Amino acid sequence: MASSPLLLCVLFCSYCLVALGGREHGFVVVPTSSSSASQSQPSACSSVSHVTSDNPNRASVPLAHRHGPCAPASVASGGEPSLAERLRRDLARRRHIIRKASGRTVTLSDAAGVSIPTSLGAAVDSLEYVVTLGLGTPAVQQTVLIDTGSDLSWVQCKPCDSSACYPQKDPLFDPSASSTYAPVTCGADACKALANGYDAGCTNSTGTPLCQYGIEYGNRDTTVGVYSTETLTLRPGVAVRNFSFGCGLRQRGTFDKYDGLLGLGGAPESLVSQTAGTYGGAFSYCLPPWNSTTGFLALGAPSNNTAGFLFTPLHSSPEGPTFYVVTLAGISVGGKRLDIPPAVFSPGMIIDSGTVITGLPDTAYAALRTAFRSAMSAYPLLPPSEYLDTCYNFTGFSNKTVPTVSLTFDGGVTIDLDNPSGILLEGCLAFVGGSSDDAGIIGNVNQRTFEVLYDSGQGHVGFRPGAC
Ligand SMILES: *[C@@H]1O[C@H](CO)[C@@H](O)[C@H](O)[C@H]1NC(C)=O
Ligand SMILES: *[C@@H]1O[C@H](CO)[C@@H](O)[C@H](O)[C@H]1NC(C)=O
Ligand SMILES: *[C@@H]1O[C@H](CO)[C@@H](O)[C@H](O)[C@H]1NC(C)=O
Ligand SMILES: *[C@@H]1O[C@H](CO)[C@@H](O)[C@H](O)[C@H]1NC(C)=O
Ligand SMILES: *[C@@H]1O[C@H](CO)[C@@H](O)[C@H](O)[C@H]1NC(C)=O
Ligand SMILES: *[C@@H]1O[C@H](CO)[C@@H](O)[C@H](O)[C@H]1NC(C)=O
Repeated sequence: MASSPLLLCVLFCSYCLVALGGREHGFVVVPTSSSSASQSQPSACSSVSHVTSDNPNRASVPLAHRHGPCAPASVASGGEPSLAERLRRDLARRRHIIRKASGRTVTLSDAAGVSIPTSLGAAVDSLEYVVTLGLGTPAVQQTVLIDTGSDLSWVQCKPCDSSACYPQKDPLFDPSASSTYAPVTCGADACKALANGYDAGCTNSTGTPLCQYGIEYGNRDTTVGVYSTETLTLRPGVAVRNFSFGCGLRQRGTFDKYDGLLGLGGAPESLVSQTAGTYGGAFSYCLPPWNSTTGFLALGAPSNNTAGFLFTPLHSSPEGPTFYVVTLAGISVGGKRLDIPPAVFSPGMIIDSGTVITGLPDTAYAALRTAFRSAMSAYPLLPPSEYLDTCYNFTGFSNKTVPTVSLTFDGGVTIDLDNPSGILLEGCLAFVGGSSDDAGIIGNVNQRTFEVLYDSGQGHVGFRPGAC
C-alpha cells in the first residue's frame, strides 16, 4: 500500500502540486535549488509530529536530530561532522552490529595490535537522535541519545572531574541532590543479573561496596560507574520509578556534549524491558525528515487504533534479545518490483535507530542500484566514494525527479520510503551492499517520517507513514 499523496501534500505543501503530479508514475519531483531547498528545510525548528493517542497510557516526548535548530541548546552547537566522517562511524557501527547479531566473536585491535573483546553496545559516535528527559527528584533535564542497538542507559554523574567525564553542556547529574536516587548494592539480584556482560562487580570507590557496571562500545568508547535506580520523568506527571541505569563516573572516547544514552534494545536492562509491565514492551519513534523538524519517542502502543500502521512480524536476533529483526520480501523502484529471489532476504534485517545507511545483501543491492541509476540517468553520477557508490551532482538542476523506493516485508505489506528524505542522504542513495550470509540493517534514513512501532508484546513492527 502506498502512502497517500494527500498526506505528502499536508507534510510538504511547498511542493504539493508537483508531488501529486509526479507520484502516479512512481516518481516525485522535488526542488534542488537553494531557494526552494530553504522552503523545505527551514532554518528554524518547527514541529509537525503527531503521535496517535487513543491510549491514555502512552507517553511521548519530542525527539530531535543532534545537529540543527531542533536540538536542545545543550547539544546543538559544536558543528556537525563531515558526511565522510559520519559514514565512517556508521560503517563501524554496522559491522559491529552484524557481527554481534551473527554470533561471531567481536574483537577490535587496538594500536598495539592487542585484541579487545567487545561484548556490548554498537558504536555510539554515529548516534544522531536525542530526547530530553527528567531524572531524579526534583527532576533535572538530561538530554540523551536514543539507541535501539544497546540496552543499558547511563548518564554522567557527579562526582566526576574533567579527566574522567567528557565536557557536557548541562550540569552533571548529582545523585546527592535527588531524594529518589539509590545505588544498587553488590549483593542485589539486579547486580548479579548484570554480571552477564556488563563487567559487573563491586566498586568500593565511595567507601561502601556498590554495584559497578562497565560498557565498552564497538568504537572502544567506554563508560564505567555505579549501577543505580532513580525516577525517570518522561513528562510532568508521567514517571518511571525505580529505573535502573548507570551513573557514569569514568567515560573515555568520542562522546560529545550530550548527557548520556537511552538504551531501547530488547534485553532486560533496557528502558523498554524495564517498563514492559506498564507499556507492554512496546515503543515507537518518528525520525523527522530534516534537522529543522521534530519527531517523537513514545512508550506504549496505540490501544486499538492501529489504523494507518502496516505490520510485519518481529523476530529477535538468534544471538541475543537486543536487536529487532524483520524480514524483507522485496524492493521496488519507481513502482516496479525488482527481480530478487526472496531467499536472498532470509538472513533477516535488523531495524536500528542508530545506523544511518541501510545495508542489503549484495544481490539485492546490485538490483536496487541498477534500477535506481537507470531511473536517475538524467543526472551526473559522482565518482564512488569510499562508503557510497551512487551519489549525484544536482548542481544546475532546479528540481530532481526521484523514483519511489518501496520495501515489501514478510506478510506482504509495502512501505514507500519518504521521497526524497528517506532515500537520498546528501545526494547519495542511502543503501550499500553487504555479505549475503549475514543479516542486513535497515538504517535511519529509510525510517524518516514513519512512526516505527516496535511491539514485542504483539510480536510485530508497524510502520505509519507521514507521522512527522
Ligand atoms: C477504541 O476504538 C473505539 C472505536 O474505534 C473507540 O470508541 C474507543 O474509544 C477506543 N478506545 C480507546 C482506549 O481509545
Ligand atoms: C541541518 O541540515 C541541513 C540540510 O541537510 C544541513 O545543511 C545543516 O548543516 C544541518 N545543520 C546542522 C547544524 O548540522
Ligand atoms: C570492597 O569491599 C568489600 C567488602 O568490604 C570487599 O569484600 C571487596 O574485596 C572490596 N573490593 C575491592 C575491589 O576492593
Ligand atoms: C527496584 O528494582 C530493583 C530491581 O531492579 C528491585 O530489586 C528493588 O526492590 C526495586 N525497588 C523498589 C522500591 O521497587
Ligand atoms: C557538479 O557540477 C557542476 C556543474 O556542472 C560542476 O561545476 C561541479 O564541479 C560538479 N561538482 C562535482 C563535485 O563534480
Ligand atoms: C524541472 O526542471 C526542469 C529543468 O531543469 C524543467 O524543465 C521542468 O519544468 C521542471 N519541472 C518541474 C515540475 O518543476
